[in-house]
Amino acid sequence: MPDTHESGYFTEDTSAEVVIARNAKAPDARLAEVMAVITRHLHAAVKEIEPTQEEWFNAIMFLTKTGQMCNDWRQEFILLSDVTGVSMLVDAINNRKPSGASESTVLGPFHVADAPELPLGSDICLDQKGEPMLVKGRILSTDGTPIANAKIDVWQANDEGFYDVQQKGIQPDFNLRGVFRTNERGEYWFKGVKPKFYPIPDDGTVGNLLKGLGRHPFRPAHLHYIISADGFETLTTHIFDPDDPYIHSDAVFGVKQSLMAKFEPINSGKDIAAEGMSGPFFRVEHDFVLAPAR
Ligand code: BEZ
Ligand code: FE
Repeated sequence: MPDTHESGYFTEDTSAEVVIARNAKAPDARLAEVMAVITRHLHAAVKEIEPTQEEWFNAIMFLTKTGQMCNDWRQEFILLSDVTGVSMLVDAINNRKPSGASESTVLGPFHVADAPELPLGSDICLDQKGEPMLVKGRILSTDGTPIANAKIDVWQANDEGFYDVQQKGIQPDFNLRGVFRTNERGEYWFKGVKPKFYPIPDDGTVGNLLKGLGRHPFRPAHLHYIISADGFETLTTHIFDPDDPYIHSDAVFGVKQSLMAKFEPINSGKDIAAEGMSGPFFRVEHDFVLAPAR
């Protein structure tokens, strides 16, 4: 009998190539390309790992439970992407910046699209909890020109490490978030509270995975920013506290050297008055440089 099998029989040796050949007529060329790469690497991983049937079933159940954890406000697969470094890798591939431009980092799951636009200098802390902080800086182009009317969307966790959306009914809505516009000199400033390290949600499959790997779930203290302006690429980034105990082991690999800010304690009456503050506070000064739109 002639061997009419389309591309050879499936064996341990030929597995990936047989599956890839089956997808050859895909109308979507990009899908075929993506599936070919995934098939090649997945089969190579399975051949290297040589899982038992039980281990493979455990892996399937891990993914099943990861999906079952997801709802409108909890996205366990994004957390999985974060702790495996894939979110930061996709971010790096999609945000190759020209020299001098500020670096990006992960968006994270706690951005809220409709935060209120506030006048410069506003206090985004609505419940007076935490150590006061004044954040200021400029938004610049790569040639150093200040960018007026740049939109700065900021959000941060409170002094206990929770975002408002994680504590509905405990924190006021829109606590510790706001949208600001730079003045004609490209300057921005606002008040908040000194952020603290916090764990990413770790009561699900991703938390179990971290435990199994002997890893902690903490992110070092940071402030989130999305900065946009006409004619420039939008920048999604953070600034970090370099003195944070988790600064060298961010659970989601989001820290970059250039994103370290200084949280300077200001205690003298003269300095407090000069900044228009009412008591001791932390001063954070950080400029951001936007890349020109491509
Ligand atoms: C965040 O910084 O808000 C965040 C990022 C990744 C996972 C969880 C939280
Ligand atoms: Fe965060």
